[in-house]
Amino acid sequence: MSLKQETDEAGYTLPLHDVDGFLCHTVISPDIIKGLRQFPFRDDDIMVCSYPKSGCHWTWEIVRMLLEGTTDVVLQEKEDLMMDYQTQEFLDKFPSPRVLNNHVLLRHLNPELFEKKIKIVMAVRNPKDVAVSFYHHHKQFDEYEYKGQFTDYVPMYLDGKVDCGSVFDYTRDWERVIDEHPEHPILLLSYEDMKENLFREVKKIGNFLGKSFEDDFYQKIADKCTFSKMRNRKGAIYKEFKENVFYRKGEVGDWKNWFTVAQSELCDRVCEEKMAGSKIRFRYTLDEK
Ligand code: A3P
Repeated sequence: MSLKQETDEAGYTLPLHDVDGFLCHTVISPDIIKGLRQFPFRDDDIMVCSYPKSGCHWTWEIVRMLLEGTTDVVLQEKEDLMMDYQTQEFLDKFPSPRVLNNHVLLRHLNPELFEKKIKIVMAVRNPKDVAVSFYHHHKQFDEYEYKGQFTDYVPMYLDGKVDCGSVFDYTRDWERVIDEHPEHPILLLSYEDMKENLFREVKKIGNFLGKSFEDDFYQKIADKCTFSKMRNRKGAIYKEFKENVFYRKGEVGDWKNWFTVAQSELCDRVCEEKMAGSKIRFRYTLDEK
């Protein structure tokens, strides 16, 4: 492990841990990342996986409600069940079924997850809105001490010199898992589809988890998990931030307020190159299908 100082176009730095080529926030312990290969999964664990800022908190909350069969779930931080943040001993204390979550790659995880058929719910979001969201995240966490401007941040982000590396590499990595393990239960969701019709997506997750609730219950979850409701209910957990980085704006297309035309075109070119052969189509607006 080493401390790496990534640098944006203006020379502002972003300190990260480099764990065998995987970049992560300095609050993340490299030993925890390395220990994940031996992580003892329970048969009924569910894993919510995503690149940062792609809707992990949102998806995690919905999965919890579906598993518990109620919208009155205990107020809890997603980070409590975050495999790449908490120690194994800490995670051991939670009763089954656990809704684990992480931002790591398959190579970090215990391959036993395939034998145990651990259900994986994966959220992806268009890389331009992720860039804006991640920029605010980097500005708000004191540990990053990041002072840069968005315009200088974009190339660093597109180069994957941020936590969890390139959004494109991350997405391709997990898409490969889906392709190479067609029998494994993995549900791919998109942030934009969830924004478009949350009831439909909640029901889809419910079916994936083997639930068969009445539509009323799926609607109840969708109503409880709108952006404003979640921000009101869960936002207070993260009091230390001036701006709530986990419940900031919750929109599709905010990137248009931040990207220049040239930056947007650069992002498109990088996306085309990195995602060559991919079946995943990012939705940059809700008008795109
Ligand atoms: P913005 O910064 O664009 O607002 P993650 O949970 O993976 O860290 O993702 C955080 C992003 O998801 C933030 O995006 C946050 O506002 C958004 N988000 C969280 N809850 C949401 C909800 N219920 N509906 C829509 N977006 C939500």
